[in-house]
Amino acid sequence: MLRKSHCKNKKIIIGVTGGIAAYKIPQLVRLLKKEGAEVQVVLTEAAKTFVTPETLAVLSEKPALSQFFKSNQGEWNNHVHLGLWADAIIIAPAGANTLAKMAHGLCDNLLMSVILSARCPLFVAPAMDLDMWLHPSTQSNVNTLQQRGVHIIEPTEGELASGLSGKGRMAEPEDLFQGLEQHFQPTENFFLNKRVLITAGGTQEAIDPVRFIGNHSTGKMGFAIAEQLVNLGATVELVYGSVTQTPPIGCHHHHTLSAIEMKTKCEELFPTCDVLIMAAAVADYHIKDVAQEKIKKSSDSLTLELVKNPDILKELSDHKKPNQITIGFALETNNEEFHALEKLQKKNLHCIVLNSLQNPQAGFAKDTNEVTVFCNDGSSFNIPAQEKSKVAESLLNNLSKWLTKQNPS
Ligand code: CTP
Repeated sequence: MLRKSHCKNKKIIIGVTGGIAAYKIPQLVRLLKKEGAEVQVVLTEAAKTFVTPETLAVLSEKPALSQFFKSNQGEWNNHVHLGLWADAIIIAPAGANTLAKMAHGLCDNLLMSVILSARCPLFVAPAMDLDMWLHPSTQSNVNTLQQRGVHIIEPTEGELASGLSGKGRMAEPEDLFQGLEQHFQPTENFFLNKRVLITAGGTQEAIDPVRFIGNHSTGKMGFAIAEQLVNLGATVELVYGSVTQTPPIGCHHHHTLSAIEMKTKCEELFPTCDVLIMAAAVADYHIKDVAQEKIKKSSDSLTLELVKNPDILKELSDHKKPNQITIGFALETNNEEFHALEKLQKKNLHCIVLNSLQNPQAGFAKDTNEVTVFCNDGSSFNIPAQEKSKVAESLLNNLSKWLTKQNPS
């Protein structure tokens, strides 16, 4: 049986820039058109040296655009309209200059203004000589683009136009097509109609009626995940401690403060939940004897005796039912992977999400985060540094795929 392409009826802009690999783009246009996509080619002046607009126009069944103005009568190619029209934009080939322009927001031709106006996913297929590809400035531009969520379709190794051999060849049109095909493939939504218990924020352990021991957690990451779970159609039980913002709408809210309170609430909710995501920063110890009255500064030193808190995640995970999923978080400052894997195993989890305090773009109170997820089948995936809402989206999409594979229904 013939499978319907995921690119069918998708509106795709192919941005062609100057580079020998441009001669392969007619093949990409053909593939996409054959699978029912609507294709608009936008090319730079330099690209015309390598491929003719006429070829691209015939194959795409649309004029291939390169100028802002269509004629001298004031008709123009509206870059904003084009940018908003597309379901995806693929820049192929993209040379070092194009990558640099994209990374720095330069806007000196129609294609660059389309890219800057676009709200859809952006794919880039670099093609250049091996030393240009390896140059720190190119790598830094690629990194910048990746951090903004641009999908880089890595160049491959082989003979290059310069006669040298190495990494820098544009991926083949079939691979570019597959990249788009995969992107449009509907993601498995494991979380649809699931009941998910998620914890967020820090706990506070009382010292006396006015003081407590706390931590720097703000709840931002946990709230971003809770919000995204709601978007995915889950019923969300959000248990949160000390936070700096209002919890997202669409969840059932449960406010707790100490680790013991959080544990009691989680124990009450977990039996009816399918998934537990423990993103809260739970204090490891509480004060043995909480003073009933405010402690006066009468002595020169003060010793507080601390008693270990129960490990909420471990206790719930150790007693989970066979169909319940438990996911933990780990925040480490050294030997990150080792400690995260140790917690994955000791706490009997399906997955653990490692936050690294070593990355300046990750951690408490930041708007961005980078995480690596380790799963109990030995697999792992990294979510590069980006806005916490984007990290949450990508994290749940990846978990969704992994969990669907583990629990096929
Ligand atoms: N956790 C928990 N109960 C605790 C401590 C931690 O449920 N008393 C959970 C956290 O919410 C997180 C995971 O366990 O999902 C790992 O927390 P972390 O603070 O990184 O590790 P700990 O187990 O506390 O170990 P350590 O502080 O020694 O690194």
